[in-house]
Amino acid sequence: MAVMREIRNIVILTGAGISAESGIDTFRGAGGLWENHRVEDVATPEAFARDPQLVLRFYDMRREAIQTRQPNAAHTALARLDAEWPGDLLIVTQNVDDLHERGGARRVLHMHGEHLKAWCTRCDSRHAWSDPLVDRPPCPKCGARSLRPDVVWFGEVPYHMDRIYRALREADLFVSIGTSGAVYPAAGFVQNARELGARTLELNLEPSQGSRLFHESRLGPASELVPAWVDELLAG
Ligand code: APR
Repeated sequence: MAVMREIRNIVILTGAGISAESGIDTFRGAGGLWENHRVEDVATPEAFARDPQLVLRFYDMRREAIQTRQPNAAHTALARLDAEWPGDLLIVTQNVDDLHERGGARRVLHMHGEHLKAWCTRCDSRHAWSDPLVDRPPCPKCGARSLRPDVVWFGEVPYHMDRIYRALREADLFVSIGTSGAVYPAAGFVQNARELGARTLELNLEPSQGSRLFHESRLGPASELVPAWVDELLAG
């Protein structure tokens, strides 16, 4: 039997499932976002070019909604792990909400961008943003009415990939929480980490598409599974 390597460096991937119990719709579940709005109508650069009002209204609605939601026990448990874990730790989230940060986590990367930021496509500046964009406000830096949500749309390259792959190379443990494993490159992280010798664990309501790639899979709501796993890990 292979000897388990000591866990020092951890990479945690989170998806919409970790925010579901905070009242934010997942993408592919029943009642999920794309059932009301087809993904190709809102989350592509082509859709934005074709109908910017629709896309901006849609993201304005989401930006407003997340500001009324609160982190749940899964977010705060990860924040505790972040604060107490002595080794390297990186929370890579596909989520564009800010619930990890409001839950207290610090070592967080948003690979799909953030609802609460606007990006000026004219001067390439980024700005903290909590108001609507549909009325095309001017960019605070250059004045152009060229702001869009700072979120990664289908067909665009996710953010921070170099840092993420570097962390995966160093990881002793890779944990995936609340993601369906339907969207690459995040869906491929488990394989990357595993090939490089990390132990892999999935915490999800139901088996994800890549469930069989994990050494271990625990099924249930994130608000229960994540605090229990964090307790276990911190207890050594
Ligand atoms: N606890 C744990 N897992 C849950 C919970 C919960 N309370 N509720 C739902 N889940 C699980 C579902 O079983 C599903 O496997 O969360 C997963 C959510 O999957 P998706 O809706 O596909 O969300 P995600 O994997 O984050 O989507 C990836 O797709 O459209 C894009 O850019 C968008 O970042 C998003 C990406």
